[in-house]
Parts: sequence; C-alpha cells; structure tokens
Amino acid sequence: MKVLYFSGTGNSLNVAKTLTENIYSISEMIRENRYEFSDDEVGIVFPVYCWNIPKIVKKFLEKMKIDAKYVFIITTMAGHDYATTLNAEKILNKNNINVNYRNHIRMVDNTKYLTSSDYIPFKTQSEIQQDIMALKEDIENHKEYKLDINTSAKTVSKITSLSTVVISQADRLFKSNENCVGCLLCTQACPKGNIEVEDNKLKFNHNCEACLCCINICPNKAIQAGNSSTEKQYINENVSVRELIEK
Ligand SMILES: Cc1cc2nc3c(=O)[nH]c(=O)nc-3n(C[C@H](O)[C@H](O)[C@H](O)COP(=O)(O)O)c2cc1C
Ligand code: SF4
Ligand code: SF4
Repeated sequence: MKVLYFSGTGNSLNVAKTLTENIYSISEMIRENRYEFSDDEVGIVFPVYCWNIPKIVKKFLEKMKIDAKYVFIITTMAGHDYATTLNAEKILNKNNINVNYRNHIRMVDNTKYLTSSDYIPFKTQSEIQQDIMALKEDIENHKEYKLDINTSAKTVSKITSLSTVVISQADRLFKSNENCVGCLLCTQACPKGNIEVEDNKLKFNHNCEACLCCINICPNKAIQAGNSSTEKQYINENVSVRELIEK
C-alpha cells in the first residue's frame, strides 16, 4: 500500500501513517515532479479546506497516474466536507483512474482550536484513532464504498471552489512578533515555500495554502493570524514537529 498525503497540522498525516508506513508527502512529490504511483492499494489523504480540495492537492490529483487494484480517497475534516471526496474522484476519473472507496473522518478542527478559547474537540484522540482503525479495516478488506453526496452538497462545493483565490492571500492576515528568533523552522515547514525571514521578521509571499502549519509549529509562538491567540497551538498528538517539517 502507498498513501499520498497533505497535512498542515498533522491530522491527515496521522491517518496516513496509521494506514501504512509507505507514506509520501504531496508537497514533496510536487517538488520532485513525481506523479506516477503503483501498488496493490494506492490512497490519498488530505484535509478539507472551505468545503473543498486544497489547491495544492487539486493540482497534484490533476497530474496523477495510478496503477493499482484498489484506489481510495479519505478526507479529514471538522464536520462538513460536502462534495469534496466526489470532486477528487472526478479529477482522478478524468485521468482514467477508477476509485473504489471514498470516505471522510471527523477530526480536531484546527481552525477553531486556534481561534476559539472554549473549543472542545468532539472526540478524544483515542476515540478518533478507533475511527481511523475502522477505515483501515475497510481498506485492508478492499471494501467498495462511496460517501453519499446529495445535490445541495454538490452546489455548496461548487460555489466554494471559488475561494481558492482568497486562500492564496490568507497570509495577509499573518504577522510575526518580537518573539521570532529567525530559526527558519516555519520556512522549512511551509509546503509552498511561502515564507522568508529577514532580520528576524517574516515575509509572506502570498502563495499561501492556509494550512496553518507555520503558526502551530513555531517554538516561540511568534506568528499570529488576525486576532487569533498566539498562546494556543495545535499539532496532532501522534505527529512530531520533525515529521511536519519533513513533509
Ligand atoms: C483553511 C482551512 C479551511 C477549513 N475548512 C474546513 C471545511 O470546510 N470543513 C471542515 O469540516 N473542516 C475544515 N477545516 C478543518 C480541517 O479540515 C481539519 O481540522 C483537518 O483535519 C486538518 O487536517 P491537517 O491537520 O492534516 O491539516 C479547515 C481548516 C483550514 C486550515
Ligand atoms: S518558526 Fe517562529 S521563531 Fe522560527 S523563524 Fe518562524 S516565526 Fe521565527
Ligand atoms: S505560509 Fe503558513 S499557512 Fe501559508 S502555506 Fe505556508 S505554512 Fe501554510
């Protein structure tokens, strides 16, 4: 089994690495210009952004070639992904890739965690881990399953696909403070190479994915988005900072 993943704060990476050791970061694959994958099972795991596919993942899917007996798509999300998995399937279908399984898993909401002081995740991490194990069992048994998606969900996802333009500019809300020591961790972790550091000050180049990795990974809590609290940071507890940097 091979799993391709994109992850800002580790939820999707946690799912990917629970499924198999053979995981491949989508941002790294794009940097290496690798789009062809073959194995008995090939899967794609990514977070839902604005009820749709993150731009970087969409770009990757459009170029993908898969030779596998069983292909699966899993989204991680906070509660609503509307037609995201179906949209991803349609992109793969255009490349003559048949999808056998597409499902989603509700995990910690990384946006609410950052912005809402009283946010309580709907499940504990160990309960979420059990949900991941159920997905894993489906996949290992080559279960044929497609999440049911109704017409209104399709319409919502169609409208929100326009938000990708706004998302590249999300970093206009970000600012670094005097706690920045210029350690470059955020620049290394950014999947888009969107951050530069000059005199312990960050420069964002407006090619953002809004993945929130930089804010959550900074050891000095030096990056703030809008009025969000710099005190709160979220990284999935089964994922290390090193793994997020190397993704
Ligand atoms: C920019 C952005 C947009 C998001 N939009 C949605 C959404 O539309 N629906 C949803 O259920 N969760 C949404 N989320 C929450 C994430 O999908 C969820 O927390 C996910 O598990 C994060 O995965 P990661 O840790 O692998 O980055 C959004 C998160 C971000 C950062
Ligand atoms: S990770 Fe934090 S301290 Fe390091 S360069 Fe980025 S903002 Fe500055
Ligand atoms: S600037 Fe921050 S939020 Fe934007 S893509 Fe890079 S790491 Fe993610």
